[in-house]
Amino acid sequence: MRSLQILAGIAGLASMLSPIQASTVIDPSTAAKAAIDAMNNAFYNPSEGRWSPDVAWWISGTALQAVLDYMHVTGSRDYLSQAHEIIEKQKAPLPWWPQGGGNFRADSTDDTGWWALAMLRMFDLTGDKRYLTIAMQDEQYIWNYWTDTECGGGIYVDIKAMTYKNAIANALYIKLAAALHLRTGDARYLTRALKAHQWFVESGMINAEELVNDGLTQDKANGVCFNNEGPTWSYLQGVVIGGLVELFRTTLNETYIRSAATLANAVISSPQLTPPSTGVLTDYACEGTAAGCNYDQQSFKGIFARNLGELDVLIVGRPYRTYLEQNANSAYQKARNADDTYGTSWSGPFDGSSLAKQQSAASLWVALL
Ligand SMILES: *[C@@H]1O[C@H](CO)[C@@H](O)[C@H](O)[C@H]1NC(C)=O
Repeated sequence: MRSLQILAGIAGLASMLSPIQASTVIDPSTAAKAAIDAMNNAFYNPSEGRWSPDVAWWISGTALQAVLDYMHVTGSRDYLSQAHEIIEKQKAPLPWWPQGGGNFRADSTDDTGWWALAMLRMFDLTGDKRYLTIAMQDEQYIWNYWTDTECGGGIYVDIKAMTYKNAIANALYIKLAAALHLRTGDARYLTRALKAHQWFVESGMINAEELVNDGLTQDKANGVCFNNEGPTWSYLQGVVIGGLVELFRTTLNETYIRSAATLANAVISSPQLTPPSTGVLTDYACEGTAAGCNYDQQSFKGIFARNLGELDVLIVGRPYRTYLEQNANSAYQKARNADDTYGTSWSGPFDGSSLAKQQSAASLWVALL
C-alpha cells in the first residue's frame, strides 16, 4: 500500500499545542499491548466470540479494529486466532436482525460500517479476499439506504425505521467506500464516496466552528433539512477525518488532507473538545455531567485518536503526534487502574472499567504506533 507524506507542516498548528512532553511516559507498543491484554482478560467471552456480550455489538467491532490495527502496524500476529474466532461467530445472521443475512449486515448502517472497516483491515493483514468480499457486500448493503429525496441525499442510520440521516453513518460510509476503491480500483466506489462526501459538505452538518454535529433534522412543512445542533461527539470528527484520509490515499488530491487538517485543528482548538486546562480530548456532552457517558459515548474518543493517527502519518513532521502523546500520557497517569484498565475521562480520575472505555484507550495507544 502507498505510504505518502505530504505538506511540510500545517500552518498555525504548532502554536495550538501545549508545550509538554515530547514523547510518551511509556513505550506506546508496550502500553497498547497491555491495554489489549487487559481488554481480553476483563471482557473477552470466547464462547460468544465477542467482548462483553451485554454491551452493544458495534463496540466489539471497533474493539476488533483496535486489535487488528495493532497487529497491522507492529507485525505481531498474537491475536489473529482470536480475530478469526470473533469473525466466524459474528458474521452469522444476527439474532436481532436475521433478515440482514449475516456478514455484519445489521439493523443500522453504522453498525455494519464498523465491522466492514474491520474486515478491510483483516484483508490487509491476511491478504484473504474473503474479507474484502464481505466488506464489499456490506458497502452495497449500506448504500441501499441512500436516498436522493430526503435532505437531497445521504444514508439513513436506522434501517428498521428508515430514519435519521446523520454524521456517523455517512462518515463511515465515505471511509468504507474510499477504502474499497483504494483496495480494488473499482471506480464505482470512488464515484459513491465522492457523491457522499459532496453531499456531506453541503448538508449543513458542519458548523461555523468547522466541527461536525450529530445529524440533520427535516422541517416537515417545507422538507428542508438543517443541522440539528446535536453534540459534536469526538468520534464524528474522527471518522470524517478518516474518510478524508482514505479519499486522499486513493485520489492523491491534497484538498482532502487540507480538509481533514482543518477539522483536526478545530477539535484541538475547541475549548469544549479540548479544554485548555487539561489539553485532553473530552466528550463534553457526557463527561462531567450528572448523567455521565453511556457505553456508546465511552467508546468515542479512541475512535477519534485512531483516525487522527491515520491523518498524522501522512503529514511531514507528524503535526498531531504531540496531541496524541499528551492524551496518552494523561490517560496513562491519571485514568488507569493497576490492572491496565482505563476510565472514561482521559484527564482522570479512574472511574471503573468497561469494554467501551478499554477499547477507546487501546485505540489511543495504537494510534501512536
Ligand atoms: C480535488 O478535490 C476537490 C474537492 O473534491 C475538487 O474540487 C478538485 O477539483 C480536485 N482536484 C483535482 C486535481 O482533481
